[in-house]
Amino acid sequence: MIVNHNLQDENIEITKQIMDFFEDRSFEPNRLKRYIAYKSENPSIEIPKVISFVNQDIDTVTMKYDESIEEFFGAKYFIKENLSRYMKYQEEHNTKVNTTISYVNSNLDYEYYTNTKSADLKKDTLILVNKYYALDKDYEPDNMVQIEAKYGVQQYLQKEAYDAFKRMADDAKKEGLTLYITSPYRSYQTQSKLYNNYSARDGKELADTYSARPGYSEHQTGLAADIVSGPGKSLDSFENTKEFKWITSHAHLYGFILRYPKGKEKLTGYQYEP
Ligand code: DAL
Repeated sequence: MIVNHNLQDENIEITKQIMDFFEDRSFEPNRLKRYIAYKSENPSIEIPKVISFVNQDIDTVTMKYDESIEEFFGAKYFIKENLSRYMKYQEEHNTKVNTTISYVNSNLDYEYYTNTKSADLKKDTLILVNKYYALDKDYEPDNMVQIEAKYGVQQYLQKEAYDAFKRMADDAKKEGLTLYITSPYRSYQTQSKLYNNYSARDGKELADTYSARPGYSEHQTGLAADIVSGPGKSLDSFENTKEFKWITSHAHLYGFILRYPKGKEKLTGYQYEP
């Protein structure tokens, strides 16, 4: 095989070194130029490693080698396209590899409400809506049902979420506990009014810690709800009820999670919301 590339003089030595690996199983002649470029950018790396990195296209993500790269590559949830962001985040925050990966995969290296994308409606009930993934202002779930008075305010939830809630509330009731929905689906317009009122009252910075901007609220999915221990009961005292204790250890059995837990404020971008 003839390898015909216009090589720079200064790369001739590197090329020679690399060509020693020509017969190596992992050597791919059509990547030669990239092997050379990566090696000349990172002279301390051994050639087999250069070949392996380039074969994995690391050079298309970042040309800068750093020891953490190998740890990143071996880690669960690693996404190649995020590599340079992992490296930058790790350098700035000195976090462990897995923490770096989960933070960057969650976009936490970006300011809230920057680099936003449309939420993926195809994910159905697994849709992610947060400060980086938004719903359109016209988005409204098409399978909503009205909540019966015994389960909460007579507003709406997606049927699947409502059916799951009813199963949960019925099981809680068998133990003498009441679970009652106070705020389920909210349209973009309703969220907009709420958020604007809160920001006028408390300022945007504080409002952002407890209220989603319109388009960014899970309430708009029709899959989320605020829950209390009965009609007229307050959200603020729910944490101190038997109901709260029960739901904390049972909600997942019905497909629900406490969306904004204590201690996870940095990850969720919101204050604890019992
Ligand atoms: N309170 C939650 C964060 C919302 O406004 O959607």
